[in-house]
Amino acid sequence: MACYFRRTIAEQVSRTMGVPSERILPHIHAGSVHRKGESPDFWLFLKSVLDDPLEAAHYQEKAEQLTDKLVSDSVISESGLERGVLTFKVNRPLLVKKVMDKIRQDGTTYGFQSEILSNVPKGLTLVEYSSPNIAKKFHVGHLRSTIIGNFIANLKEAAGNKVLRVNYLGDWGLQFGLLGAGFSKFGCEEKLKSNALQHLFEVYVKVNAAVEKDEETKLSAYEFMRELDSGHPQALSLWTHFRGLSIEEYAKVYKRLGVEFDEYSGESLYRQKSQDVLNLLRSKNILQITNEGVGVVDLTEYEDSPVNATVMRSDGTTLYLTRDIAAAIDRRQKYNFDEMLYVTDKAQQTHFENLFKILNKLGEDKVDRCQHIMFGRIKGMKTRRGEVIFLDDVLDEARARMLQNMAKAGTTKATEDPAETAEKIGVAALIIQDFKGPLQADYSFSWDLALQSTGDTGVFLQYTHARLQSLLTLWSTREDDDFSVSCLQEPSAIATLQHLLRYDEVIYKTLKELQPRYLVAYLLALGHLANVAIHSLQVKGSPPEVAHARLQFFNNIQVVLASGMKLLGITPVNKM
Ligand code: ARG
Repeated sequence: MACYFRRTIAEQVSRTMGVPSERILPHIHAGSVHRKGESPDFWLFLKSVLDDPLEAAHYQEKAEQLTDKLVSDSVISESGLERGVLTFKVNRPLLVKKVMDKIRQDGTTYGFQSEILSNVPKGLTLVEYSSPNIAKKFHVGHLRSTIIGNFIANLKEAAGNKVLRVNYLGDWGLQFGLLGAGFSKFGCEEKLKSNALQHLFEVYVKVNAAVEKDEETKLSAYEFMRELDSGHPQALSLWTHFRGLSIEEYAKVYKRLGVEFDEYSGESLYRQKSQDVLNLLRSKNILQITNEGVGVVDLTEYEDSPVNATVMRSDGTTLYLTRDIAAAIDRRQKYNFDEMLYVTDKAQQTHFENLFKILNKLGEDKVDRCQHIMFGRIKGMKTRRGEVIFLDDVLDEARARMLQNMAKAGTTKATEDPAETAEKIGVAALIIQDFKGPLQADYSFSWDLALQSTGDTGVFLQYTHARLQSLLTLWSTREDDDFSVSCLQEPSAIATLQHLLRYDEVIYKTLKELQPRYLVAYLLALGHLANVAIHSLQVKGSPPEVAHARLQFFNNIQVVLASGMKLLGITPVNKM
């Protein structure tokens, strides 16, 4: 629908300029809405259309000539020139009709059916995210990986890809040797059953301390690890037990966040296959053994970071990197993905660069389709219990604080299950705070800022959604989709519809750059426009025809707001 307008504008400009409309089309954009005055609906960056540098140098002149020649028709009601960019205003009743009908028709897929998304490649996308380490802390980096990965998976799915969501657990390594050695001393089956993550972490901390003092525990940890490595049934069964209970526990917390996985994978799956990787590297003459007996791959030919990447310890055991090589090859063979995205913090940048280089040296397919999506650190996220150790702690804290705010505002009574509502709002607050800036940037976390009820927060988005919902309870004739366009001509209605017009472009950009901030900024702006519209376009007391058109309009805003929030990983609330 936005494409319908873009196309019409391109055709008219094409006729006037004598340039094919296909060349003009990509440079027409729906404008963002300004707070003051009415903004143009579309902009044409003429300079980008003119590929002859000589012509481009005179584009201002060209633009002026063109503006003079363009005529109004039944679609384009006005054209003009602003700072060298051509502007277009489309026919008002047509704008209202087209936007309203399209949202009505596409519903939650609005924005994704657009022509501008039709050339976005579709296929199988493997997104690997969250990936915590069993028995170790679930730190805020894992929280970021979880919500960012979930968002990317949602977005890719909405754009028509088949998505495989993989959690690659840190489920192998010396921490299990320590747990195996220490569990008989410090462990308790009861506690393990009631809260595996917490208990394993406690045991892990205690054994670590014990290892410092006595050599015997240390030796038995190594011994247990050796047993695990060689597949000793008793050791393996204890490991399986720990892993299974941990996953059950993780799944519960993920559920609170509204996050799911198709597959719980992990480093343990590749303990054999990483030995095969060493053999493969040997057979291709890529494995070099240093004087100390360490196995490395020479990556010095890469100028960006000429290093030797270690893939084997001197005792013949493999490393994190070796297991990642094995995992990448295995996934390519098993799933034949079209792209694979790894979501981790930027501290692992070199790790993934080395991984991709080694895969390239091995002649692996599709390495250019593998991407490391990295993010910065969150600073200062603390809970009342102190430093964040478990994801549960963060969620509990967000819920508790939100409940307190709701109690203060006297809104707790309005909802059936205040704790659940508080949790959904709290999660929204965390997500928006996290997604506002560029993913790569570090940021300082503040509960107070995140949980503000006005301003650019997740609480504000939830509030707007609930406010629209309460308004919509007045709408009894939902099926009747006919409405009068003349009832939606007020500035606040037009501004909101203009904003809705550019949703496809925002989706496109978000998808291209895999940066949630574009969508976040868009939804926050939609929220502000919606609140202005709710305030100025009364439903109660208006003539039935006007009330009906307005309700339909508010319903459409809510559809787009809710589906955008869901893409971000937020569950919209209906009351708060
Ligand atoms: N478990 C790792 C960590 O906590 C993250 C795993 C990332 N994924 C990967 N394929 N290496 O640091």
